[in-house]
Amino acid sequence: MVPGKGIIGLKYLSRKEIEQIIETAFSMRDVSRRSVKKVPTLRGKTVVNLFFEASTRTKTSFEIAAKRLSADVVNFSYTSSSISKGETTIDTAKNIEAMHPAVFIIRHSSSGVMELLSRHLKTPIISAGDGTNEHPTQGMLDIMTIMDEKKRIDDLKIVIAGDIYHSRVARSDIYGMTKLGARVYFFSPPTLITDDFATLGASITYDAKDAFTDADVIIMLRIQLERQATGLFPSTREYSRIFGLNAQRLKLARPDVIVMHPGPVNRGLELSSSVADDADHSRILKQVENGVSIRMSAIYHTIGEEHGYTDN
Ligand code: CP
Repeated sequence: MVPGKGIIGLKYLSRKEIEQIIETAFSMRDVSRRSVKKVPTLRGKTVVNLFFEASTRTKTSFEIAAKRLSADVVNFSYTSSSISKGETTIDTAKNIEAMHPAVFIIRHSSSGVMELLSRHLKTPIISAGDGTNEHPTQGMLDIMTIMDEKKRIDDLKIVIAGDIYHSRVARSDIYGMTKLGARVYFFSPPTLITDDFATLGASITYDAKDAFTDADVIIMLRIQLERQATGLFPSTREYSRIFGLNAQRLKLARPDVIVMHPGPVNRGLELSSSVADDADHSRILKQVENGVSIRMSAIYHTIGEEHGYTDN
């Protein structure tokens, strides 16, 4: 990692950098699991959560991650900000930058906004998701969860299923997982994927049996109704029947398959509640736990490396 560089997409990270962030995240998880969940690494540094879009998991976990590293955290609320008076995203960020934060954590609905802001700001940016482009810390927490369960990622059959087209998670997953040697399959209706996804190194299938048979890992994606201007499938009932994951369909996969989902889950649409809550297979809450560790590691490698992350 180059300290100060920021993390705006797994497209830009090498295999070694991704592995380094994940390795540190496992150490950070030990901090989160002990009774005193704090190290002094980022004392005196300010982390600004600049979220222009709604979030539960990512925003909360970045805040918890920064606080466990002893940083001061500022949570920007776009609904009560001067954005409502017409201030631009760039002006908003530059004005907050004038207050000397150490790092920006940014979520925005516009794809590519991280590259744009990087050109205008000196402060490093960690992306918390931009439009349909990338969600790099979600990609790394997904990889961490798989490595935790399977002790490897290379040559696993990983199925990413659902609304691929609108998914920044799918893009970060494919960039990261193929760099680490996984076999990735996309499964979705033809209206929710485009041919260029094949150029990212995944196989595309429209057939559930083909997709789920012998899968080691299944990552179900949320149908993003808020990003669809027109209906891209006939009905939610038909989508669930043909493209959803339920207990019957899960039997096609390997007996030790793990099921993941970035959240929030549309229960009964892309994923049945019986599978979402199946303790033997579902690792959805494990992903959330690992999200804090990955974000501690991402912040640490961006602004804290010189201090180390022990208690001293
Ligand atoms: N996985 C994820 O990005 O969830 P949130 O939108 O709640 O942050």
